[in-house]
Amino acid sequence: LDADDVAHLRSLLSTPDSSLVTTIPSPDGSWKEAAPEDLVSYNVDWMDKYHGNSPVLVKPKSTDEVSKVLQYCYQKRIAVVPQGGNTGLVGGGVPIYDELILSTEGMNQIREFDDVSGILTADAGGILESLSNFLHPKGYMMPLDLGAKGSCHIGGNISTNAGGLRLLRYGSLHGTVLGIEAVLPDENGTVLSINMPGGGGAGALRKDNTGYDLKQLFIGAEGTLGVVTGVSIMTPRLPSAYNVAVLSVPDFASVQKVFKETRGQLGEILSAFEFFDHEGLEMVLEHTGAQSPFESAPEEGAEKPFYVLIETSGSNKDHDDEKLGSLLESLLENGTISDGTLAQDETQVQSLWSLRESLPEAAGKLGRVYKYDLSMPVKDMYSLVEEARERFAEKGLDKDGSIKTTVGYGHIGDGNLHINIVAKDWDKKVEQTIEPWIYEATAKRNGSISAEHGLGLMKAPYVGYSKTDPAIAVMQQIRRLFDPRGILSPAKYLPQASELPLQG
Ligand code: FAD
Ligand code: MLT
Ligand code: ZN
Repeated sequence: LDADDVAHLRSLLSTPDSSLVTTIPSPDGSWKEAAPEDLVSYNVDWMDKYHGNSPVLVKPKSTDEVSKVLQYCYQKRIAVVPQGGNTGLVGGGVPIYDELILSTEGMNQIREFDDVSGILTADAGGILESLSNFLHPKGYMMPLDLGAKGSCHIGGNISTNAGGLRLLRYGSLHGTVLGIEAVLPDENGTVLSINMPGGGGAGALRKDNTGYDLKQLFIGAEGTLGVVTGVSIMTPRLPSAYNVAVLSVPDFASVQKVFKETRGQLGEILSAFEFFDHEGLEMVLEHTGAQSPFESAPEEGAEKPFYVLIETSGSNKDHDDEKLGSLLESLLENGTISDGTLAQDETQVQSLWSLRESLPEAAGKLGRVYKYDLSMPVKDMYSLVEEARERFAEKGLDKDGSIKTTVGYGHIGDGNLHINIVAKDWDKKVEQTIEPWIYEATAKRNGSISAEHGLGLMKAPYVGYSKTDPAIAVMQQIRRLFDPRGILSPAKYLPQASELPLQG
């Protein structure tokens, strides 16, 4: 990227002074050179783990501008990294070297909302929480919710196929996304509009059975096939009654027992079932300064308890209260749960949720976090956390202070375990003790190395633990079909992506 590229890119944008930020000096004073710190937050990821060095950030205001930028990048073979809210956890959304950063920050309009069908059509740069705030007064909600809601963009959510806290109830984005508009990195900067209103062809329909379902390819493509610029998504009705309870159970077998009972007794009103371990609770309480919601702490040397968070959402408070009340009563009576607390008002709902939602932030404040989001049968989940701790103890990594703590939590309802290994520093010795061991241990349990965070830079070399060679080969061919010159996030997502034959 040089001054000629910057001058050309500026000529494509309607508001170049606010839509293009660069540290490349202007030869003739036609733009203001940015300070390197203006680009830091776009070059570094949320965990401060992956650092790029891009001198150019473009924030197009429309699909047409994205198209012109990608067409130019195709012509000049300029590598591009699409970026939303930059909350991704696998190094996918930041440059590795000096790729142009294409942010959707400037594209955050709501295009239309149909309050009969609940179908929302919006620009890709809409912040998840802003979209929820738009829907709430209309009696609707976004079908996904995650701790990063205040920053992540809906385009980023789609591109990572984000799961989150309520997937158990509302399903994955593969089910709720109806249409996608994306710009391809080809010679025309082609705008692909699939089941989007006003894009030609069918628009924002619940059912469209005409041909390959191309939009699915963009869900979880992590910016390797095109830049998502718009989305149509089905939004569910906002429930009028909520309950949240956090329960303490003596062991992981009881977590599973409570889950089975809860599903059986609560049925359709269950909207989240999360778990975290005692190390996780201690870390959060330390970080937030909150009081433990439980009456008694485990005694020195005793087995450490586990905690589950149960949320119900429904339309009849008395009915939901009665169902949850009788569930808790039966669990207490048969001794499955040892302690518990039920939120009495909205403030308590928030503070109980915060015990779970603050885990990523608390880990990040404590040290450098090696994060894993693994998918596997629920029964096999926690043995992996225990195996990890034993491994670190054998290698002396806990005694010498290299590893501060290992925390297990996750979305039990989705069979998704999160392991956060909090280290004193980014440390090759720690990393090599964890990887590829953790991926092998996951594969042995017939699991997947990514349940929801994706592959990015972190897991590109390891996808073979979860996908066969023929499947990877087909994915590589699809990638080249959409991105013939390999300009979108090269070196990420699939192994040896940069060695694939280029076309054109
Ligand atoms: P970014 O981080 O900007 O980008 C992520 C990837 O998508 C990159 O590969 C990027 O190139 C690509 N991309 C972004 N926008 C586009 C676009 N418009 N077109 C094409 N490609 C694009 N994830 C979960 O699944 N579940 C959780 O519960 C969850 N909780 C989280 C909690 C916290 C506190 C944090 C920090 C993260 C959490 N995440 C979770 C991970 C992350 O928030 C999600 O993956 C989120 O969907 C990323 O959105 P983003 O806009 O920040 O994307
Ligand atoms: C979560 O479930 O909290 C998210 O996936 C983020 C994380 O694990 O750090
Ligand atoms: Zn998660």
